[in-house]
Amino acid sequence: MPRSTRAQFPDTFRWGVSTSALQIEGATDVDGRRPSVWDTFAAEPGRIRNGDTPAVACDHYHHLDEDLDLVKALGVGAYRFSVSWPRILPRGTGAVNEPGLAFYDRLVDGLLERGVEPWLTLYHWDLPQPLEDAGGWPRRDTALAFADFADVVSRRLGDRVKRWITHNEPWCSTIKGYYEGEFAPGKRDLAAAMQATHHVLLSHGLALPVLRSNVADGQCGIALSLHPIHTASDSEADRVAAIRHDGLRNRWFLDPLHGRGYPEDVLRELGTAAPTIDEGDLVTIAGKTDFLGINYYFREIVADDPEGGPMRSRVVETEASDVTGFGWEVYPEGLTELLLRVTRDYHPAPIAITENGATYPDEMAADGKIHDEQRAIYIHRHIDALRTAMDGGVDLAGYFVWSLLDNFEWAEGYSKRFGLVHVDFATQARTMKDSGRWFAAFLKG
Ligand code: FCB
Repeated sequence: MPRSTRAQFPDTFRWGVSTSALQIEGATDVDGRRPSVWDTFAAEPGRIRNGDTPAVACDHYHHLDEDLDLVKALGVGAYRFSVSWPRILPRGTGAVNEPGLAFYDRLVDGLLERGVEPWLTLYHWDLPQPLEDAGGWPRRDTALAFADFADVVSRRLGDRVKRWITHNEPWCSTIKGYYEGEFAPGKRDLAAAMQATHHVLLSHGLALPVLRSNVADGQCGIALSLHPIHTASDSEADRVAAIRHDGLRNRWFLDPLHGRGYPEDVLRELGTAAPTIDEGDLVTIAGKTDFLGINYYFREIVADDPEGGPMRSRVVETEASDVTGFGWEVYPEGLTELLLRVTRDYHPAPIAITENGATYPDEMAADGKIHDEQRAIYIHRHIDALRTAMDGGVDLAGYFVWSLLDNFEWAEGYSKRFGLVHVDFATQARTMKDSGRWFAAFLKG
């Protein structure tokens, strides 16, 4: 049974919950907002489960105060949210949409009034459609546009927001979006995807000095999705396949951010699909950060597979019986392992777990409650894993549960619930789940 308590963590440790704009806000054509790639993608038949779209989502745009009250009720000290680029710059560049910025003013002020620290993510995958039409992340200009967007947002909110995350999970927005085609914009072109990874990282580096100049005492970082990579068997072929796989999944992002350039072995595997890198880019990408965000959900068990994509690797299904509603194995030891590895190999800035959580097929019981004990245990076991990592020398700054609310889970639409708070998407009624109550009690001590 999980056993850690809040008292075993330093007072400075930040406990929080995470969300993202596209997944909760709705109001996609209100007050001057224009489409993002995800609005376009969701409108294409067959892209999203059940034909769901983010048009309404949790209608957070119109339930702001209620939702901030829920954040407060949880007793967390921090709230991680993202700002919608197409709400602020509907065409991606140029004219600023004042009502868009005003919404985030209200959000930030509402958090501060409730004693909750805002952690702002600039990009959680909702690229303005006009920028995609012009070439999207494979085009270098998109990185420059991102730096301008960072400037607009940080000029406005930098007096009150001190924690800035440039990007959420670059692997997903680029590899899943431009190579695997499962996420917006739904392309399948390896070279374009790899060029996109480079431009996303470049845009992170370009935004850093902008944020530094606009935000006094700001702390800046990026949030990566990282996975421990294990081998499917003891065979030499699987062993080296796991190294290749780790190269694209983890090292491709960690290495350049820590000043090492892109990993040679991955560049070799990519061949002509390797990105074009201009002089100075690698220095820009390796700009100093104040924390490293890590989103942790699962490990990957990898086998050699000549047909298995660019790294000739295949993720095999876990044999574990303890899996979440996504089929993701519950593997808290992996979080400890990952944190120790990243610390050992990269000596990073202090780490914050910017996402961790689980989907289960929650149902409202006859008593009107959601008895999701599994989710509470999931979270508690991962908190235990953090404690173990800290004992092993990992410098940890915080932990954010994904997510505050059930929401629009990308290609899975509304079929996957991750919230500590249940949302009835027909009525927009919010109900604190048992896991939310548990988390609040954990934080109370
Ligand atoms: C992460 C995403 C987040 C959410 C969780 C379940 O990859 O960053 O938006 O979808 O997975």
